[in-house]
Amino acid sequence: MSQLTDEIRRRKTFAIISHPDAGKTTLTEKFLLFGGAIQTAGAVKSNKITKTAASDFMEIERQRGISVATSVMAFEYADSLINLLDTPGHRDFAEDTYRTLTAVDSVILVIDCVKGVEPQTERLMEVCRMRKTPVIVFVNKLDLEGQDPFTLLDELEDKLEIKVRPLSWPISGGQTFQGVYNLFNKELCLFQGGKTKLSDERVIIKDLKDPMLDEYLDMHADELREDVEMVEGVYDAFDKEAYAAGHMAPVFFGSAVNNFGVREMLDAFVQIAPTPRQRTSTQREVLPEEDKFSGFVFKIHANIDPKHRDRIAFMRVCSGTFKRGEFFFHTRLGKKLKFANPATFMAASKSVVERAYPGDVVGLYDTGNFKIGDTMTEGEDLQFQGIPSFSPEIFKELRNDDPMKSKQLEKGVQQLMDEGVAQLFLQNPGNRKIIGTVGELQFEVIQYRLEHEYGAKASFHAKRYHKACWITGDELKLQEFRRIKHAEMAIDKDGLEVYLAPSSFILEMETRNFPEITFHTTSEFKTA
Ligand code: G4P
Repeated sequence: MSQLTDEIRRRKTFAIISHPDAGKTTLTEKFLLFGGAIQTAGAVKSNKITKTAASDFMEIERQRGISVATSVMAFEYADSLINLLDTPGHRDFAEDTYRTLTAVDSVILVIDCVKGVEPQTERLMEVCRMRKTPVIVFVNKLDLEGQDPFTLLDELEDKLEIKVRPLSWPISGGQTFQGVYNLFNKELCLFQGGKTKLSDERVIIKDLKDPMLDEYLDMHADELREDVEMVEGVYDAFDKEAYAAGHMAPVFFGSAVNNFGVREMLDAFVQIAPTPRQRTSTQREVLPEEDKFSGFVFKIHANIDPKHRDRIAFMRVCSGTFKRGEFFFHTRLGKKLKFANPATFMAASKSVVERAYPGDVVGLYDTGNFKIGDTMTEGEDLQFQGIPSFSPEIFKELRNDDPMKSKQLEKGVQQLMDEGVAQLFLQNPGNRKIIGTVGELQFEVIQYRLEHEYGAKASFHAKRYHKACWITGDELKLQEFRRIKHAEMAIDKDGLEVYLAPSSFILEMETRNFPEITFHTTSEFKTA
């Protein structure tokens, strides 16, 4: 086997996603402890930006610093090299999370057993479904009085639109939580609690009729027998292919803070999670085993400090081998670039990397060459697909408050948009700039950064738009639509036509009035 295929076979690149507070940071930390990447609990800082700190830019900057350091956390476990890609915890940065999901091969979705499926969980899952990303579900906080597991699984199937298959089963919950029975390995794991301990008591009980079960679980033994019988009767057997195709999500139960049920999931993860998969480009499918290197940029992180105007572009390697100091081809700009100090990230530390393989993420120091979605190759003209724009939720018009600094403003806005901080829509041949974001926080960040990094002054004026819709369809009808709606038409960053719908009611009405036109709330249709 060649070294490249060997490296690919070892790798698993994934992200942990959740609604804020479900336990993503805690689970990440436990994974890193198992992987030996950190030694003590509490070493992983939460990348949550709290709303109260919204106008405290030092705080935002501090948090941004943390999120660079934790962008990729690589660790080894059971012969696998695992790249865990971090996603922002704050809802306002959801677009960042969506983009990170384009760079992973699978995800672990954390659900709080008390709260069940929450709004952000649904949105994230929608993105996973679009991309057919394999999902493992971790139902967390079993030490609290949560919902009945069967009810919770019904809710998961219903709201997340995915078939579920429990691979472990909780025995009681809350105050009387006993542990889980691992249906995958036929092992009983008894709950003891303890935040830093890495071992739980495990007992192999292949047959649930075994009287040993009564010794360990007393009155809960029969309860478990009944539950498991029901599980086996109700849910289809676990099917690895259905999981790999994104149709079936195996479910594990546990308590991240107590480090319980985490190892079971990690063990199953390394067995079933996909290795780096093939990627679609505009030209062709690209296989990871191809000799020639290719990769794409899914995230750009700028330094707010005007004295250090460097940026880090995060590139996912898709095929071949990335080598330090070698020239690679930037397909959008049509020019060759080389990187003297590409970085990898191990937990909180950064180091220079000589070689990187499919599934890896390298940090490239950039002085303005990169935009989100850019492709690098060894010369072939490729463009990776699948970094869609999603309709923003808040829209504001950007006004220039210092006409002497128009150039700086233009440049600043352009660069911030390239980084993916927000989306820009142009109206009236470019004269009117509408900025769209997922949250209010971005507007403060943009205003602050325009002023401090580019010396430009801008203000925002709220626009009552509900959604940005990319439109396609019959050309004659499109012409008619454009004419009627010209005040609400705009152009996105790729020159695509967008309708800024003023309300959900009007959007519904237009959908009925113009059945020949399709209104898309993501730009993914380009690649469908
Ligand atoms: P997030 O990244 O998804 O936003 O969640 P995070 O891990 O920060 O966890 C949110 C809160 O839930 C934390 O409490 C964390 O300790 C708690 N938590 C995580 N796993 C479990 C669990 O299995 N059981 C229980 N009972 N709680 C859990 P916090 O009070 O916000 O923070 P901290 O002071 O405890 O760190």
